[in-house]
Amino acid sequence: MGSVNGSIDLRRDGDVAIITIDNPPVNALKHEVRAGLIEALRQIGDPAIHAVVIACAGRTFSAGADISEFGKPLKSPGLQEVIAALEAVPKPTVAALHGTALGGGLELALGCHYRVAAPGTRVGLPEIKLGILPGAGGTQRLPRLMGPEKALAAILSGDPIPTAQAHADGIIDEIVTGDLTAGAIAFARKVVSEHRPLTLVRNREDKLAAARANPQGYGDAAAKLTSRSGGRRAPAAVIESVRNAFTLPFDDGLAREQALFRELVVTDESRAQRHIFFAEREAARVPDMPQGVKPHPFERAVVIGAGTMGGGIAMSFANVGIPVIVVETAKDLLTKGLDRVADTYRTTIKRGRLTQDEMDKRMALISGSVELEAAGNVDVVIEAVFEEMGLKKEIFGKLDTIARPGTLLATNTSTLDINEIARATKRPQDVLGTHFFSPANVMRLLEIVRGKETSFAALATAIALGRKLAKVPAVVGVCDGFVGNRMLAKRGTEAERLLLEGALPQEVDGAVTEFGFPMGPFAMGDLAGLDVGWRIRKARGVKAEITDPLCEAGRFGQKTGKGYYIYQAGARTPTPDPEVEQIIVAASKRLGIERHKISREEIVERMVYPMINEGARILAEGIAYRPSDIDVIWIYGYGWPVWRGGPMFYADLVGLPHIRDRLALYAKRSGDKSLEPAPLLAKLAAEGKGFASVGAAAGAAA
Ligand SMILES: NC(=O)c1ccc[n+]([C@@H]2O[C@H](COP(=O)([O-])OP(=O)(O)OC[C@H]3O[C@@H](n4cnc5c(N)ncnc54)[C@H](O)[C@@H]3O)[C@@H](O)[C@H]2O)c1
Repeated sequence: MGSVNGSIDLRRDGDVAIITIDNPPVNALKHEVRAGLIEALRQIGDPAIHAVVIACAGRTFSAGADISEFGKPLKSPGLQEVIAALEAVPKPTVAALHGTALGGGLELALGCHYRVAAPGTRVGLPEIKLGILPGAGGTQRLPRLMGPEKALAAILSGDPIPTAQAHADGIIDEIVTGDLTAGAIAFARKVVSEHRPLTLVRNREDKLAAARANPQGYGDAAAKLTSRSGGRRAPAAVIESVRNAFTLPFDDGLAREQALFRELVVTDESRAQRHIFFAEREAARVPDMPQGVKPHPFERAVVIGAGTMGGGIAMSFANVGIPVIVVETAKDLLTKGLDRVADTYRTTIKRGRLTQDEMDKRMALISGSVELEAAGNVDVVIEAVFEEMGLKKEIFGKLDTIARPGTLLATNTSTLDINEIARATKRPQDVLGTHFFSPANVMRLLEIVRGKETSFAALATAIALGRKLAKVPAVVGVCDGFVGNRMLAKRGTEAERLLLEGALPQEVDGAVTEFGFPMGPFAMGDLAGLDVGWRIRKARGVKAEITDPLCEAGRFGQKTGKGYYIYQAGARTPTPDPEVEQIIVAASKRLGIERHKISREEIVERMVYPMINEGARILAEGIAYRPSDIDVIWIYGYGWPVWRGGPMFYADLVGLPHIRDRLALYAKRSGDKSLEPAPLLAKLAAEGKGFASVGAAAGAAA
C-alpha cells in the first residue's frame, strides 16, 4: 500500500481500499495513470479488503484522456483494459466524483458498480467535440444507465450534465455532502453490510427495453438530433454505436465502438477539432508577455452605451456575477436599453434556459446612469457608443479625468483606430479594444485589440476578463477591421462579384451552408440589415452595384421583410425573390457582364480562398500572432464549421499550391489585384510548406 507509481496512490481505511489518481491539473488518464490503476487493482486481493473506492486528488475527478497521446500508437494498457480489470474485481467498487468527470474519466467511473458525487460535480462524454466518439465503452454503458435516447442526446451534445440531473438519470447513485472520500467509504460499507447487488453497468438491461420495443423511436430521435450536422462522420458513428448498445451483445458493441473510434481519430474532421481545442487555449497567449504579469482585479464595470452591443456586453458581466453600470446620454434611452436587456432574458426564460429567479439576480447586478462620472469607481470601462471617432475621443478624454488610475479603458469599436482613441487620454497604456460580436451575450469570440502603447498589465487584465465572461479571447493588432472583419470584407467583395457574373444569392448561400457555415453571406446581410453599410457608402461616395439598388427599393433585409430574399411576416426563413433576380440581372447588364453558370465548387473556392489570402497578409503584418489565432476567430466569431478547423488549417488541408494557382486565376479573370496570391502564401507554397509551419511572431501585433 502507498504510492503505486508517480500518479497512483493506494491506501486502506480499515476494510476499504482507496485508489487515488493524482495527475494534476485534471487527472488526465495518461499511460502512467492507466498502468498504475492496473497495478493497484492487482494489489487489492487481500480478503480483509471488502470494498474499493476510486477517487482523484486535486480540483477534479479525471477530465478524460490525455489528448496529446491521440494519433500516436497506444501504449498498453489502454483504458478498456483498465476498465475490464476494474469490472473483474469481485468486491464492491465505488467511484467518488467531484469537479468534472468527463470522457475517459466518466467511462472509468462507469466501470464501477456504484458512483457517488459531491454537489456541483458535472459528468459527460465530450468526445464529439474532438470529432471522435467515447472509445472506452461510454456509448455502451451510458445507455444502460439512462436509456439510449437520453444517452444519445448527451453524447451528441457532449455537454456536461449537472449533478442533480445525473442523479435523476441514474448515472450517479448518491450525492455526498461533506467530505467526499469519507462519504464514498461510508457508501461502500453500506453496500457491503446491506449486501446490495453488485451488478455491473454492462449487465444492466432494464433501460434498454423501451428502445428494443421501439427502434423506430430511436431512429426518429437520432434524425432530429443530427438534422444540422451535415456530412460529419462523428455524429453518424455515435448514432450507430449507441444503437448497438440495444441491438448487439455487449462485447460486440464494445468492439464496434473501438473500431469506430479508430476510424474517426484519423479523420481530417477530428484533426481539425483537436487543432481548435489547442488553438483556443493558445490564442490568448501573448508571445512577448513577460513572466509574472498579473491581471488587475475586475470587480465592478461600466459599459457606455445601452444600444445593441452595450446591452449584450452588460448582460455578459451580469451573467457571471459582476456588477455593471450602463451609462447613456438620456433617461429614456437608458430605460429603452435596459428594457431590451430584460426582454432578452425573458425570451431565454421562455425557452427554458433561465429561471425567473436567475433573471432577477442578473438584472439586480445591472444598474443605469446618465452620468459618465459613474466610471470613477470601477475597474473596467467598456465603451460601446456610435461608431464615430470624434465621439469616442471625446468620451476617452473625459474618462481620463474621471477613471481611477489603472482602470482598464476599452472600446468596442469595430473599425476605428485604437491608437488614435488611446491618444485622447494621457494613459494610452490602459487603453485597448475589446471587440465583442453580436449578440454580445451569446457570441463567444472576443478580439482583444492591442494598441501600440497598451501595457502588458492591461492586456493580461482584458484576457482574464474575457475568460471570466466565458468568452474566447484572441489578441490581435490594430488595422482596419482587425482580423475577422478584414477577412470578411474580402468575402463580401467576392460574393457581390459572383452575383454579377451569374450566380444568385441562394446559390452562393447554398454553397456556403453546404460547406458548413450556419448561414451564407446574403442571408447574413439580411439579418444584420443592409441599410447600415448603404448609409456608410453614401457618406463615403462608394457604390455597391447590387446592394445599393436593393436599399433604394426599401429592401433593408429582415427588418423590412425584404432584402436579398423575401420573408413571410414575422418569419426568418429566406425565400428567393424574382424581383431580386431582376435587379441582379439588370446590374450585370449595366456593367456589360455576360452572365454564366458558376459551379458550386468555384463558389466555395471564391468564398474561402480570398479570405485565406487576406489571412496570409494579416500574418505577415503581425496583426495576428499565429495562423491558429485566425482559425479561432473564424470559428467563434463567424460560424466557420469547427470540424473544418478554421480557414488557415483548411488551407493546409487543401494544399497551398492549389490555392495559390486558383487565386492567380481569379485575380487575372477579375483584374482585382488584391486576389493575387499574398507573398507569404506564395512563399510557403513554393517551399512546399503550410501555414502550420509559421510560428508565433513575438510582439508583432500592435
Ligand atoms: N452592432 C454590431 O454588430 C457591432 C459589433 C461589434 C462592434 N460594434 C461596435 O459597437 C459600438 C456600438 O454599436 P451598437 O451596434 O451597439 O450601436 P447602437 O447604435 O445600437 O448603440 C449605441 C448607443 O450608444 C449611445 N450613446 C451615444 N453617445 C453616447 C454617449 N456620449 N454616452 C453614452 N451613450 C451614448 C446611444 O444612445 C446608443 O444607445 C460601435 O462602435 C460599433 O461599431 C457593433
